[in-house]
Formats: sequence, structure tokens, C-alpha cells
Amino acid sequence: MIELSHLTKRYGGQLAVSDLSFTVDSGQIYGFLGPNGAGKSTTMNIMTGCLSATEGSVRIDGHDIFEEPERAKKLIGYLPEQPPLYLNETPEEYLRFVGEAKGLRGGAELARQMDGVIAQTGIGEAAHRRISALSKGYKQRVGIAQALLGSPKVIILDEPTVGLDPIQIIEIRDLIKELGQTHTVIFSSHILSEVRAICDQILMIAKGRLVAFDTPENLEKHLLSHNEVALTTDAAADEIRALLGTIDHITDLTLEAAEGGLVTARVKTDLSSAFDLSRRIFSAFAAAGETLLELTVKKANLEDIFLELAEEEPQPPAVEAELVESEVTEE
Ligand SMILES: Nc1ncnc2c1ncn2[C@@H]1O[C@H](COP(=O)(O)OP(=O)(O)O)[C@@H](O)[C@H]1O
Ligand SMILES: [Mg+2]
Repeated sequence: MIELSHLTKRYGGQLAVSDLSFTVDSGQIYGFLGPNGAGKSTTMNIMTGCLSATEGSVRIDGHDIFEEPERAKKLIGYLPEQPPLYLNETPEEYLRFVGEAKGLRGGAELARQMDGVIAQTGIGEAAHRRISALSKGYKQRVGIAQALLGSPKVIILDEPTVGLDPIQIIEIRDLIKELGQTHTVIFSSHILSEVRAICDQILMIAKGRLVAFDTPENLEKHLLSHNEVALTTDAAADEIRALLGTIDHITDLTLEAAEGGLVTARVKTDLSSAFDLSRRIFSAFAAAGETLLELTVKKANLEDIFLELAEEEPQPPAVEAELVESEVTEE
């Protein structure tokens, strides 16, 4: 449905998107995940024909967005990061304006589609109030409604839940899921739990590069080798190595001296449950009559992958703080 090929964007000397290639199939929800400044908005603006690329191409259902912009753009509904709402208008006036701009002239079809998108986005009761008087959640729905006009096959939403309160966030997420039943949806977010909750596929980007593209489940699986168990014992290092050597599925082992002449061992596993590894370690130590003074599990999750991938080069602290904070308040 959408094919990005070697897309690169430079703003002056600054590289915002770097050699980005991926293909999006129809009928799925894609989460475009990345920290602030990763290049999400730039990519979406290029995909929707709102911004030129420095290099590379974008095809929508086979139509090149730069060579056949009219045909390609007809297939896409876009809600940019800053929705171009006219605050003095009512949603109805605004949608009529957008519908006409999208070529839906001749009353009946425009009226039918307006009724349809108003119902689908649940803005019926606000349709005759000024947009300036609407809550941010309603404004966002109006933005989504305009994207739906013209029956595009693909809906692209740039950070649709930013700035909303928790209830509005849930409502918009539900709306995105619903749209996913009839459209190909790509939405961006810097909040991992949100992407995981809604989408079928995660496109993870950092510093303008694609760092992962898979289902949430597969990404978690891929990272199972990051499951880690730490144990502290008074056994000798050789004994620890021997005992752990009898356990399968250990992918990595490091030993370090701990206080009081003890040893801490950090053990990584590709077992899907790090607790399963704990159990095996406990049994092995007990059978050998060795004492475990401490045994703790650190289970990898998508959060870890994301932080790791996004932070291969250091990120500005503000980005990390925001990401962690959002995760904490979300879950
Ligand atoms: N109009 C612009 N001029 C110069 N630099 C820009 C412009 N828009 C974005 N950038 C830079 O490009 C990078 C990617 O930005 P953006 O696509 O907005 O990321 P995201 O949407 O993931 O937060 C950032 O470093 C940003 O500062
Ligand atoms: Mg953005």
C-alpha cells in the first residue's frame, strides 16, 4: 500500500531522515514509534506530499507522491501534528470546506460523507459549536474527521493523543482501533505502551533511521535474551561457573565482587520467563548445598528495547525524562 524507498531529508545541513525504507501493507495498524526529534513528523509530511524529500521516493498504491501527487494524495487522509483547524468555524463548516477542497462537490455525496465522518468520530453534538470552544479531545476528533473525508484508504495521524487528558486518550485510541478495521492506519507516538496497545506492527525510528520493524510480540521475543537474573552468593567463583554451567539457556554470564567477600553473578537467558531461570538456579545451588543470599529477576520489555535502540547515541535528557514519565503515568 505504501512503499518508502531510501527516503532522506536534510534541513540545511541537518539530517532529519536518513535512508528510510519500509513497506506498509493494507488493512493493518502501524505504530510509528520514536522519541521526540526522531524524524516522525518529517517522514509523515513527506509521505503525505506536504514536504519534499532530499532523496528517495514514496509510492502510495503504486503512485509516486511527487510524480502523481493528485492521485497519490487522494488515497491518504492526514492529520498533521498541528491540525490546520479554523477556530472561528464550526466543525460542520470546516468539514464542508475540507470536503470541497478534496473535490467532493455536489451536495449529496458531500453531505453523506460529512454525516458519516461526524458519526464515526462522535462529534455530532459539537458539530455546530465553534471549534475554538471545543476541548482538545474534540478538536482532535474534528482533525480525524477531516482526514476521513474523501474515503481515503490510508489514514496517517501524527501524534494524535499528544496533549489529551487520560480519558480523551483512551477515546482516541479506541477510535484508531476502530478505523483500523476499515483502513490502513499509520499513527506516530513517542509512547511505547500506546503503540503496543493499538498497533499490529511497530516501526521504530531513532535519529531518522529505522531501528526495528516487527509485531509487538516478535519485538518482545527478540529481546528475550535481555532477560536477566542477578544472584549474590558466598560460593567461590569457580563453583558458581560450574553450577551455572549445568543450566541450559544461559546466554551470558558476568561475575563481580560484592561486599563482604561475596560474589554477584549476572546471568542472561533466552528463556521466555526469567523466573524459570531463577527456579533452575535455585535448584542447582540447593542441590550443591551452596547458599543464595540474593536472587533478583529483571525481565526485558519493549521499553528496554526502545531505550536501548533509541539511545545508541546519547539522547538529550529532556527526551528521556518525557518518555519515562509518560510510561509511568500511562501504566
Ligand atoms: N522545519 C525544520 N527546519 C529545520 N529542522 C527541522 C525542521 N523540522 C524538523 N527539524 C529537525 O528534524 C529532526 C526531526 O524532527 P521531526 O520530524 O519533527 O521529529 P519527530 O516528529 O519525531 O519529533 C529534529 O532534529 C528537528 O529538530
Ligand atoms: Mg513530530
